[in-house]
Amino acid sequence: MKAILTTPPKGGVKITDIKLREEKGLKLRTLRTGICGTDKEIVEGRLDFARTEIGNELVLGHEALAVVEDAGESNEFKKGDIVVPMVRRPGNCKMCRLGRQDYCEDGDFVEAGIRGRDGFMREEFYDKEKFLVKVNDRSIADLAVLTEPLKNVMKMVEIFNFQKNRIPTYCDDSTLKCKNLYVFGTGTEGLLISAVFKTMGINVIAVNRHPANETVAKFLEINDINYLDTSNESLSSHSKKYKMDFAIDAVGSMDIMRDISLNISNNGISILFGTSGQMPSSNYEFLGNLVDKNIVVIGSVDGAKVHYEEAIEFISNYGRKRSLDKLITGIYKPEETSIFTNKEKGEIKKVIQWS
Ligand code: BGC
Ligand code: ZN
Repeated sequence: MKAILTTPPKGGVKITDIKLREEKGLKLRTLRTGICGTDKEIVEGRLDFARTEIGNELVLGHEALAVVEDAGESNEFKKGDIVVPMVRRPGNCKMCRLGRQDYCEDGDFVEAGIRGRDGFMREEFYDKEKFLVKVNDRSIADLAVLTEPLKNVMKMVEIFNFQKNRIPTYCDDSTLKCKNLYVFGTGTEGLLISAVFKTMGINVIAVNRHPANETVAKFLEINDINYLDTSNESLSSHSKKYKMDFAIDAVGSMDIMRDISLNISNNGISILFGTSGQMPSSNYEFLGNLVDKNIVVIGSVDGAKVHYEEAIEFISNYGRKRSLDKLITGIYKPEETSIFTNKEKGEIKKVIQWS
């Protein structure tokens, strides 16, 4: 069968024929896989934790949608069911045993297509029932490939909801209508964050350093999200006018951390998701602000099964209404491996169609 392989930590990408390794569980046929920054970093040899399962090659792919070909002994799934496989697989620590491998305590987990486990960019694979999430609403089959990046956002919602009650951080009518969330980054993850938090009644401002391209602008308009182009108006000027109550970074640049700490309101909440590894261009004095302003800063990675389920639910309820289909800007054949290294004009989410 066809598979897309890389050689970590060196990287590279190629399509080749491999044999399907029989494993316990259900037999699945891949429908779609998405490509994200993590895949590109692995291919470019920039993700130092990327590692193989066996040998020196890794099957890429952690964002997937698949169909059950043989349900084996499963009670939960039957042939023909559409599923999303989970990325991270637990180790033995307490959090992993609780199903919260996203909060793994000792790093003893593996991640399909990223570290220690072959991914989903292949025609077929085997997986255990426990790591599959069913897509009951077949009308969203074209969009459900967004479940994996969206589950990261659902975990952020979980974090946010805890933190907003640390001290009452809502408006005096108990809603969040008077609050502003600045979301840094307008790639798939940034736009999904903006869309989800908007549905929670928060006023969302998407931030980037350049004007929004047509696709992004349209998506923001449909979702009633504001846009700040910092090449046009500085973050400090904008946030003086509107107040930055909350901030989420989906870029991963230390300079954004600085911008947040300097401009966020007292008692603000900030979630850091991006991990681009871009180093700060200034010193670290800005960290003092976090103390003085009682700022909560929380790092967030991955998500649990419940977040995949919430993501599927969100796509079912809002996918069409909020134009999530606009985020899929290209559908490619597995052979077109140049998509890992090329950046198409206006690209947001690239998807590979397997069958
Ligand atoms: C995935 C996460 C994963 C992280 C780090 C992201 O692209 O969405 O599930 O934990 O990469 O490997
Ligand atoms: Zn990803």
